[in-house]
Amino acid sequence: MQVEQKEMMYEGKGKKLYKTNDANLVIAEFKDDLTAFNAEKKGSEEGKGSLNCKISTEIFKLLQKNGIKTHYVETLSDNLMLCKKVQIIPIEVVVRNIATGSLSKRLGIKEGEKLPFVLVEFYYKDDALGDPLINDEHALILNCVKSVESLETLRKIGREVNEILREFFDSKNLLLVDFKLEFGVDNEGNILLADEITPDSCRFWDKETKEKLDKDRFRQDLGNVKMAYEEVLKRILS
Ligand code: TMP
Repeated sequence: MQVEQKEMMYEGKGKKLYKTNDANLVIAEFKDDLTAFNAEKKGSEEGKGSLNCKISTEIFKLLQKNGIKTHYVETLSDNLMLCKKVQIIPIEVVVRNIATGSLSKRLGIKEGEKLPFVLVEFYYKDDALGDPLINDEHALILNCVKSVESLETLRKIGREVNEILREFFDSKNLLLVDFKLEFGVDNEGNILLADEITPDSCRFWDKETKEKLDKDRFRQDLGNVKMAYEEVLKRILS
């Protein structure tokens, strides 16, 4: 069946979601917009959406090849991705290898310090509350998931994704510092990795120079945002 793009059903900060003629499929359009600090800071970078679509495509394919179930179906054009329709679990799963960002700020751990083990954190996906850090009991009270087993599943997949991506990016001379994952439940009840995996949602540092090649260039006004995303795509494809 030829997939037809229908009306927009949702607009987020980085993507728009469209219905299709198939009730089980949606089309994600990657936007050029950039936001930070819960959209207090806004910007745009022409071509960023298409770079993110290409980067996400490669990463989802790599993860699927390695046994991770994702919502990815097919890339339709420069910035359009066909995905399985899922109900998003309102938890941002953050996986960290090296301290930086909100972890350094909150706990005073020096930026750049390698963590003694892989840290997995849950944040409640709620813009009005500013996506607060939560623990397992909070997640259950908030009805984000039905059981503690589902939280264990999110942690387990987060760690598996980390192992696959850390090794992959290491071979591209990039340090995978940390990243954020989102998951969804499909119409059969399966938990699938969803959303995107891009320099908007991950931190990448050059292995030798430690140069930041991700959205921190926008967050911290370091300049050359698009060049950094282009460099990440170039290395992924190399
Ligand atoms: P943090 O250090 O600001 O908590 O960010 C941890 C990781 O999560 C980092 O790779 C950036 C990513 N992230 C998002 O994808 N969306 C967000 O809203 C935030 C705050 C972080």
